[in-house]
Amino acid sequence: MDIPSFFNLQAYSTSRIQQINAALDRLTPPADAPPASLHEAMRYSLFAGGKRVRPLMCVAAAEAVGGTAEKVLPVACAIEMIHTFSLIHDDLPALDNDDLRRGMPTSHKVYGEALAILAGDALHTLAFSVLAGKQECDDPARLFRVIRLIAESCGEAGMVGGQVDDMLYERRPDITPEILRSIHARKTGALLNASILSGAILSGAAVDQEDALRNYGDQIGVAFQIIDDILDVTSDDATLGKPAGSDLKNDKATYPKLFGLEKSTQLAQDAVQTALSALSHFDERAEPLRAFASYIIQRDM
Ligand code: IPE
Ligand code: IPE
Ligand code: MG
Ligand code: MG
Ligand code: MG
Repeated sequence: MDIPSFFNLQAYSTSRIQQINAALDRLTPPADAPPASLHEAMRYSLFAGGKRVRPLMCVAAAEAVGGTAEKVLPVACAIEMIHTFSLIHDDLPALDNDDLRRGMPTSHKVYGEALAILAGDALHTLAFSVLAGKQECDDPARLFRVIRLIAESCGEAGMVGGQVDDMLYERRPDITPEILRSIHARKTGALLNASILSGAILSGAAVDQEDALRNYGDQIGVAFQIIDDILDVTSDDATLGKPAGSDLKNDKATYPKLFGLEKSTQLAQDAVQTALSALSHFDERAEPLRAFASYIIQRDM
């Protein structure tokens, strides 16, 4: 198989992000529909920017197994809605207490805490309404599996559970590498992995392809959060679009805190290498996924 040695991830992302943003706009109630304050707040966070990594990886995984972006746009958007809800709640005073997100004041700074909580709730439930009502699939059993996978990835066994332990391990000297990895795998890795798997499952992935993508996603998810931890130390608000030093402020359990910057970078690079080897049986249609793996450790925001 002739694998191109150069793949333009930026051009790929630009074109797919246009499709994703147009679909997100279609799937989200208009800002002036009552209750307008709620819909305005939902749209404020959803369209504040954001790299769209999860929907992009969902689309890339679909394409890697022979599917198309068009077919998985609703699931890709549902995942971005869930991710945006998680960011709104993550920034609340009761959690990380941050004032800047995607280069804009956080939801609770603009709309107040009550509406920020409710906008998060509404994005979370809208996601499942989109999945059950707008996502078409020739095989209903596959769609059912995807809905369950996404629910599990963002609930107590995934993102929410990880967020709870993220709070629990603030200011704790007894954090271990195993616990830290588990926090990162759940608070960030689970939804990222669900993005990849759901794109693939809806596009008819074979069992061995699913297994390979699950291995890829496990590694990518943890690497993504390790780099997030590193950037929190090494970058600045303007570049990140969110407050640098947030983890230090809250004395979070992070990779740089436990391992230092150099070793943390090495661990992220190792995870990405393992992720890439999981894709060894895929052809050139997996080039976007391969490029995302490299992007994740090179990114500066
Ligand atoms: C930030 O995610 C929260 C984490 C799970 C690390 P992103 O870095 O993907 O944030 P956006 O979507 O681009 O704003
Ligand atoms: C957040 O981790 C993970 C979520 C589930 C939102 P962080 O708290 O490190 O994310 P940022 O740095 O605020 O984006
Ligand atoms: Mg947090
Ligand atoms: Mg945070
Ligand atoms: Mg962070």
